[in-house]
Amino acid sequence: MAGFPIDVHLSEHGLLDSIAEDVRRGMTSPQKYLLPKFFYDEEGSLLFEQITELPEYYPTRTELSILTDIADELMGRVAPREIVELGSGSSTKTRMLLDAGYKAKTLTRYIPFDVSQTIVESAFIELQRRYPGMALHGVIGDFERHLGLVPPAEGKRLVLFIGSTIGNLEPKERLELLGEIRKLLAPGDFLLLGMDQVKDIAVLEAAYNDAVGVTAAFDLNILKAINNALHADFNVAEFRHRAHYNRDLDRIEMHLYANSPQTVHIADLDMTVEIAKDESIWTESSHKFTEATATSMLQDAGMTLDAWYTDPLRYFGLALATAQG
Ligand code: SAH
Ligand code: AVI
Repeated sequence: MAGFPIDVHLSEHGLLDSIAEDVRRGMTSPQKYLLPKFFYDEEGSLLFEQITELPEYYPTRTELSILTDIADELMGRVAPREIVELGSGSSTKTRMLLDAGYKAKTLTRYIPFDVSQTIVESAFIELQRRYPGMALHGVIGDFERHLGLVPPAEGKRLVLFIGSTIGNLEPKERLELLGEIRKLLAPGDFLLLGMDQVKDIAVLEAAYNDAVGVTAAFDLNILKAINNALHADFNVAEFRHRAHYNRDLDRIEMHLYANSPQTVHIADLDMTVEIAKDESIWTESSHKFTEATATSMLQDAGMTLDAWYTDPLRYFGLALATAQG
């Protein structure tokens, strides 16, 4: 990658090298589960990009429209010298903020942090073309383990955690992560956190059960990723995807259900797993927020809400926050 560093804190298998214990725990739990961070191998990252284009999947285009509206005002108000972005993926929406900071000549460095090296490398090609002279510094790692390895700040910093990826963590994990993010913020620095909002259940369930089956392919790909990483033999064709909304916990829950009884061997774990017909493997939770729950989550993590941005339908929210002193 001409001229720009990418620090890699994971092996060529990405996160999948460190998953053995997580998979063992998930496959021996009464409700079997896998962790959503295992979705993002090369194929999973491509499938996620396709999800963002689906008519039913409103979060990406809604967040993009908010970012487009607020970019100049936000970047003028915060005036960061650098942006650190967690779970940056293709960095497509981020370009709204990068455009504004680049135009204002205040922003000099962008640090995307993601588990997927291929997606960061391909994002760099467009970023180099679009922002000549801006420093890029990629970090490939697990934001739950490697945030301490983000390069030291070179000036005022804006940390971005958009896309509602925080919603894929359980409450305990997201509080821990926000605590670690807080350590990336010096006085005067900001966090911009994107969160999908509680809304009509039909809209939510359609977004995770799209008509053409891209979300199903994304969900099923987690089994292929585990097969590759741990020499397992999940029969992907014998599982079906379904997502439903849990009203009590305000979250979408994605499951893979077995169409017939399955005996799965996971060679690297020296383990055999029996899965009954119609038993499910829980692959993802996608928590939904309100301005009130977002504010109290930030408070619990020692942060203060500075501004709240949303769209006319209140489908998506972006919180600008600072660390309490
Ligand atoms: N921010 C982009 C991408 C969201 S998809 C957007 O809003 O469209 C979630 C992204 O987070 C993926 O690129 C995935 O590779 C990354 N990701 C998920 N879990 C991660 C983890 N534990 N550490 C680092 N990156 C992670
Ligand atoms: C990345 N994350 C916020 C997405 C979500 O909506 O929870 C992942 C996803 N899962 C199914 N569709 C999209």
